[in-house]
Amino acid sequence: MTRGPTPARPRGVRIVGSGSCLPQRVLTNADLTTMMDTSDEWIVQRTGIHERRIASAERGETLSRLAAAALRGALADARTSPDDLDLLVLASITQEMMCPPGACLVASLVGASRCGAFDVGAACSGFVYALNIAHELVRGGSYGTVGVIGADILSKHVDYSTAGRGTAILFGDAAAALILRATDDPARGLVAHAMRAQPGSWADIFIPNSPADFPDPSQYDPAKIGRLQMNGRAVFRFAVETFSDLIGSTLAHAGVEAADVDLFVCHQSNARILEAARQRFGLPRDKLYVNINRVGNTVAASVPLCFDELRRAGRVREGTLVMFVAFGGGLTWASSLWRM
Ligand code: ACO
Repeated sequence: MTRGPTPARPRGVRIVGSGSCLPQRVLTNADLTTMMDTSDEWIVQRTGIHERRIASAERGETLSRLAAAALRGALADARTSPDDLDLLVLASITQEMMCPPGACLVASLVGASRCGAFDVGAACSGFVYALNIAHELVRGGSYGTVGVIGADILSKHVDYSTAGRGTAILFGDAAAALILRATDDPARGLVAHAMRAQPGSWADIFIPNSPADFPDPSQYDPAKIGRLQMNGRAVFRFAVETFSDLIGSTLAHAGVEAADVDLFVCHQSNARILEAARQRFGLPRDKLYVNINRVGNTVAASVPLCFDELRRAGRVREGTLVMFVAFGGGLTWASSLWRM
């Protein structure tokens, strides 16, 4: 269907449904101590993570199936049929194939036969990028109902031996989805947003495909191909600074104070990074949601998974002001401040 021009009347955007899906297998810190030289104490102290979920291809837990399960939950929550979707956007860096787009596999699995479908890749920031894009397409008037999914199975790109212990402990697998819908109330939807990148720092987080991908050839090792490479200390420093700056600049752009925001839904990368942001803005603990202890860093699924848990707990109501924030590979970072 060809989309028409922007409507004459301004319109807003509502989040009318959410859903999520976690793989069955729980990988605890105790399990990791049997695979590599590490300890529960080290992991909890440095990251706040106690356990994470790991997808199993044998159990049929592929990226598209996890994402489809999350989307079905969101559609049911929104009392919307798959055929009502005008567009489906999947944020992920771990789709099972390079072609077709993962969003097309998901649309096929849920039976969404009349929507456009494409993927967004911005690592851990991917979902917030996708949310901002989808919002603008709905507010612009061309699309009425849009599904936005964040899903990743990063466990297939980490090395569960002592050589990979700096990254393997961090990541878990998950999928989560939101349904966006146009409303006549222009006050609902994005209040302010940002999408940024520092591409000169791309080598701080990357997954090499070939020897040529290593910026420093002396770091090449065949065992590193297809495995996440991360300069943990550099990313940590970047994240602590960026999180706070991003929240501060988004608040300033919107003309609101941190205390006016009801919920901060932040990418769960490390409990210490989240705690630094919470302290910088003097936020009470219940305003900055944390689930990293149970699920680890779930990459693009992290932000929508937190939001789904908050929504199901009744913490998101009409008028609630919610700040979504994420950072990740690229390096990229993004914010999205919403009036629900
Ligand atoms: N168990 C025990 N010891 C370990 C482990 C482990 N799992 N991992 C590393 N160590 C050791 C190191 O070998 C090092 O030993 P050494 O001093 O003898 O060399 C020591 O612990 C300290 O290592 P650091 O890497 O400096 O540890 P740090 O305190 O920085 O914590 C961590 C590492 C948790 C990875 C931290 O740097 C971090 O969280 N960084 C941010 C990562 C992040 O947020 N990434 C998000 C983006 S991901 C994306 O976009 C896909």
